[in-house]
Amino acid sequence: MVPGEQVSAEMGAQAIQGCIDSYRDTPGGLLPLLHAIQDAVGYVPAESVPAIATAMNLSRAEVHGVLSFYHDFRQAPAGRQRVQLCRAEACQAVGARELEAHATSSLDVAMGGTTNDGGVTLDAVYCLGNCACGPSVRINDRVYGRVDAARFDELISDLTGDAP
Ligand code: FES
Repeated sequence: MVPGEQVSAEMGAQAIQGCIDSYRDTPGGLLPLLHAIQDAVGYVPAESVPAIATAMNLSRAEVHGVLSFYHDFRQAPAGRQRVQLCRAEACQAVGARELEAHATSSLDVAMGGTTNDGGVTLDAVYCLGNCACGPSVRINDRVYGRVDAARFDELISDLTGDAP
């Protein structure tokens, strides 16, 4: 699913049920099921947890535990643009923490959150395979290297058409 793309509640419910039906008999199928739901509707809605738990013969707490443990799973719709900041070691050594502080401040959003206008979701990622050119940032499907505060602002400005 394209970031920011919205699915109607009815289509979303049908897609989620289709995913559940595909994985309910798969041993250890919870993770692939959650990924399938996120791929289909963009996130894993809280309302789907009871049906997932029942189908996978797990408690709701177990499903919630998995959802909150893995950073990849979203529990709310993502923004129209997804910006990911690398938090892994090589990028941290060259300023990723400072970049994260700048990004959260300039976008006025916490890591894992979405700006109030629904425009940008800011997430952490743990290595983008661009370690020699950190700090690394991925915006939607494109990776950028050596991103400092000024470059970040340029990229966001290009993305939203606004200065942050
Ligand atoms: S550590 Fe950031 S891209 Fe590898």
